[in-house]
Amino acid sequence: MSGRLLLGVCGSANILALPQHLIALAGDGGPEIRIVMTRSAAALMPPATLGLLCPDVLCDGRDELTTSHVSLAGWADRLVVLPATANILGQAAGGLASGLLSSVLLAHERPVLFFPAMNRHMWRHPAVRRNVARLRADGHVVMEPVLGPAWQVATQDVQENCGLPTPTAVRAVVDEFLRLPLDPLGATEAGGLATPPPPGARRDGDAAAGAWSGAPPSATAGRQARGGPVGPAPVGAVGAARPAPGREG
Ligand SMILES: Cc1cc2nc3c(=O)[nH]c(=O)nc-3n(C[C@H](O)[C@H](O)[C@H](O)COP(=O)(O)O)c2cc1C
Repeated sequence: MSGRLLLGVCGSANILALPQHLIALAGDGGPEIRIVMTRSAAALMPPATLGLLCPDVLCDGRDELTTSHVSLAGWADRLVVLPATANILGQAAGGLASGLLSSVLLAHERPVLFFPAMNRHMWRHPAVRRNVARLRADGHVVMEPVLGPAWQVATQDVQENCGLPTPTAVRAVVDEFLRLPLDPLGATEAGGLATPPPPGARRDGDAAAGAWSGAPPSATAGRQARGGPVGPAPVGAVGAARPAPGREG
């Protein structure tokens, strides 16, 4: 799928899986990609590592005074944040612009696609639920994270974690996102993206993220985009999902 994709990368331990996602996104006629890493992301993974896969990597803390967030936001046909931390969801929901990535998010005129990844208690926290509902009500697309076993940094063992979909699934969602009309935020239902799973849905193996069994996905996505119910304990609803290899912070 052609187009210009700006990828925001945040400080989640799931960044360990990012090279595989980048390969899936860029390969086979994928979009032109530029990357903006937050300071935390750059602390967890050297920008030079991502530079092996993408020639254009910018960083908060290093490039924010020499890079125009407005130009970057205008360059991008589409903005995707992967992995998206609880922090960036809160910043975006609150309209804060304390760094390069959050400034680009605010200066971009179209809906943004977020792939959250975080500790399951963080994802279920009322403050995060509020931020997710706010972003969806504003017209952004916030994917449900995938619940699955992952290495827990804090306890040094494997626990259930809210991680990223597989690289194949992410590519399918991003391709669909790139195909949507390039309308400004609020003009169309970006949530019409037929991907967020309805409560109670289970992912169909390793299929593309659009393949959920349960209620019609587009109806659910539309409801979420309009700020409708996010659903109680949504993470538990996708327990059969197989996450991308990742880590929990
Ligand atoms: C090893 C490690 C892993 C982390 N993993 C996550 C995570 O998966 N999700 C999350 O929301 N925060 C995680 N954090 C906390 C964030 O890095 C922290 O909230 C940071 O301020 C996020 O900044 P950013 O959103 O600008 O990238 C982790 C922190 C560390 C040290």
